[in-house]
Amino acid sequence: KIIPVIMAGGKGTRLWPLSRSSAPKQFMSLLGKNTLFQRTLARVADTERYEAPIVLTNAEFRFLVAEQARQIDQPLSKILLEPVARNTAPALAAAALIVAGEFGERAIMQVLASDHEIVEDDVYRDCVARAAEAAQAGRLVTFGITPTEPATGYGYIEAGEELGGGACAVKRFIEKPDRERAEQLVAAGGYLWNSGMFMLPVGIFLQELRQLAPEVLEAATQAIAGAKADLDFVRLEEEAFSKAPDISIDYAIFEKTPIAAVVPSPIEWSDLGSWDSVWKLGEQDGSGNVADGRTTLLDTHNSLVLSKDIHVAVQGMSDIAVIASEDAVYIGRMEDSQNVGKLVKHLASMR
Ligand code: GDD
Ligand code: MG
Repeated sequence: KIIPVIMAGGKGTRLWPLSRSSAPKQFMSLLGKNTLFQRTLARVADTERYEAPIVLTNAEFRFLVAEQARQIDQPLSKILLEPVARNTAPALAAAALIVAGEFGERAIMQVLASDHEIVEDDVYRDCVARAAEAAQAGRLVTFGITPTEPATGYGYIEAGEELGGGACAVKRFIEKPDRERAEQLVAAGGYLWNSGMFMLPVGIFLQELRQLAPEVLEAATQAIAGAKADLDFVRLEEEAFSKAPDISIDYAIFEKTPIAAVVPSPIEWSDLGSWDSVWKLGEQDGSGNVADGRTTLLDTHNSLVLSKDIHVAVQGMSDIAVIASEDAVYIGRMEDSQNVGKLVKHLASMR
């Protein structure tokens, strides 16, 4: 069986002000009833194919994780708590060490982000099966999505020779190119977006970490050695984990490894990472607007307007996002959606 590992420790700053550092986007119900994290859990709930999931999160979010899993009756195998945020590579290194210890080096783990909306149909299940097969053959596997625009928030994969079973070798992996580069890649064709979901043979993944990111593996090893368990929670040792470089798995491993493979995946997928993606996924009215809550729009086009509490009226605007929470309002151009994280950093520095 596959061991699901769910990454749920991001701060989701690009969805400010609805996503807050105390309750980031994966724990919100953006479009629909269950939260994104709960919908991710539902994707690995099938006990015939999956072991109970391991959740990786920041120590701050431990109660949100436990409570939201309980609400949908999803048993978790472990909740791995990061004492400080070091991005996804150190957390995944720690998870791999735990999985290798418990299930052996040949175990396969499926890494899932908790900010995706995916339609779980036969096509999706077929891609997962292909990825598991390629992982069993010793590859670090990603799921490739056909790009629809020169987005700058994704990793780009150039697919190489076919490996059989519907997987291709990865020729090149470029994480988050700038706009100009992204335009070149999309124009060149043959590139896929990295979905941010991975299928990893644990022993081989650990070997690659040792080769390509030894400080990450070393810090994770020490943090596990000093970890304290309490019910389902495993709290990584702070001093050791703090020494890990702050780096994502995409930069640490996928840009560098020669043994990556990609399964081109014609699945319905969206990353709900920024306001433009929420707008694209939402139900647009005749003017291309997506509005939810207490809102009034006049002569306004292709915009996203969300407000739960206060009444927001927008007139004569196009291509903007207006997002009101109970104590803050964000107004920006849709095309600046990837930069909201910068604004949040700026706000933090003003305090
Ligand atoms: N446990 C833990 N700890 N999880 C984290 C941390 C951390 O420090 N940082 C981020 N995460 C979680 C997020 O909650 C999210 O579920 C997932 O890891 C990915 O992080 P994002 O911050 O959303 O990454 P991204 O969207 O910018 O980029 C990744 O996903 C894209 C597709 O959605 C990359 O893999 C890109 O290559 C990819 O295209
Ligand atoms: Mg994301």
